[in-house]
Amino acid sequence: MTKLNWGMIGGGEGSQIGPAHRLGAQADGNFVLAAGALDVDAEKGKAYAQSLGVAPDRAYGNWQEMLEGEKGRDDRIDLVTVATPNSTHFEITKSFLEAGFNVLCEKPMTMTVEEGEEIVKVAEASGKICAVNYCYSAYPMVREMRHMVATGQIGKVRLIVTSFSHGHHGDATDADNPRVRWRYDPAMAGVSGQFADCGIHALHMASFVASDEVRELSADFASTISSRELEDDAMVNFRMDGGTVGRLWTSSVAIGRQHGFDIQVFGEIGGLRWASEQPNQVYYTPVGGRTQIMEKGESGLSSEAQRLSRVAIAHPEGFPLAVANIYVDLAAAIRGEEHGALPTASDGLRSMAAVHQAVASAKDGGAWVDARPPMFR
Ligand SMILES: NC(=O)c1ccc[n+]([C@@H]2O[C@H](COP(=O)([O-])OP(=O)(O)OC[C@H]3O[C@@H](n4cnc5c(N)ncnc54)[C@H](O)[C@@H]3O)[C@@H](O)[C@H]2O)c1
Repeated sequence: MTKLNWGMIGGGEGSQIGPAHRLGAQADGNFVLAAGALDVDAEKGKAYAQSLGVAPDRAYGNWQEMLEGEKGRDDRIDLVTVATPNSTHFEITKSFLEAGFNVLCEKPMTMTVEEGEEIVKVAEASGKICAVNYCYSAYPMVREMRHMVATGQIGKVRLIVTSFSHGHHGDATDADNPRVRWRYDPAMAGVSGQFADCGIHALHMASFVASDEVRELSADFASTISSRELEDDAMVNFRMDGGTVGRLWTSSVAIGRQHGFDIQVFGEIGGLRWASEQPNQVYYTPVGGRTQIMEKGESGLSSEAQRLSRVAIAHPEGFPLAVANIYVDLAAAIRGEEHGALPTASDGLRSMAAVHQAVASAKDGGAWVDARPPMFR
């Protein structure tokens, strides 16, 4: 099988998400890191790319040089990952799609709903793949939950309760640290802080597991550290197209919660629970029955959960392999082969609309608002 050429923008040395992409893309031997503009500092980015095995003429100083350089090559990259800070995603993603490249963009895909709609249109017109890295949806046991819901094993879903709440920005004496401060500064982060950063993972997860979309929402935002302009805590109530009631709590001041991402799905004949800190397990309770712990890799799971499970039962299988599952399906999609669910630009757009509408709702005392982007109403 010929390897696919992969390029990355951002994800330089010391970045948070870069290592997960490098491990994930290369875990299955589908992709080789062939090109990169890895750092906002051109020289650092070039040096780091070469230390990772990128040829000197494909270790670029910035993404514009990379676009020009790759466009003209016979062995041009088959996929580019955009792992830069949020405000750059739109321009880079759009430019690469227009030049005929497949793109995996980090979340949030854009800063505005209008930009999100444009990416959806450009992706459609280009015929190229535009995926968004909602990587938690690629954990095998998340796929199992989705399968159980889709096959009626917990009945019609009444209620989803999800949270993505950590405490890593809870120290008021650290609030001025530049690595923390920008996230609550509208000039750098956009209209929302914690909800746009972590809440949208939880909202996407609700839609993914239920195979349903969020229709309307009502939000309460708080800046519990008063120097922050944007919210560090949010409670969002939502309703889905199929009538499911949703509750979402996201916070960055929940001291003691580490990663803090979990979801509970309550149906008419059963309930499910999953948490990212114990990603190998789903708790399943049939109505009137005992709670069962379902383990990744055990017999009887769906083919989708089995397909995305790499190591033997009870061995820890973590975040980089969830990211790797996204790349497995991207490789298959690029090769024109059958593949599993990939989070797309439409998902990225829905998140952006939910963020902007949640901000509007919070400013309006929690009024219920339409959560959908205009183009999907
Ligand atoms: N999917 C997830 O679970 C997940 C997790 C963490 C971060 N993210 C997203 O990934 C993105 C990056 O976040 P991070 O935490 O790794 O940030 P970071 O600040 O740790 O790293 C950003 C990297 O991008 C480089 N960079 C900045 N501007 C650039 C430019 N114009 N061209 C090339 N390189 C540039 C920086 O030098 C740095 O190496 C964000 O959009 C974030 O929301 C997603």
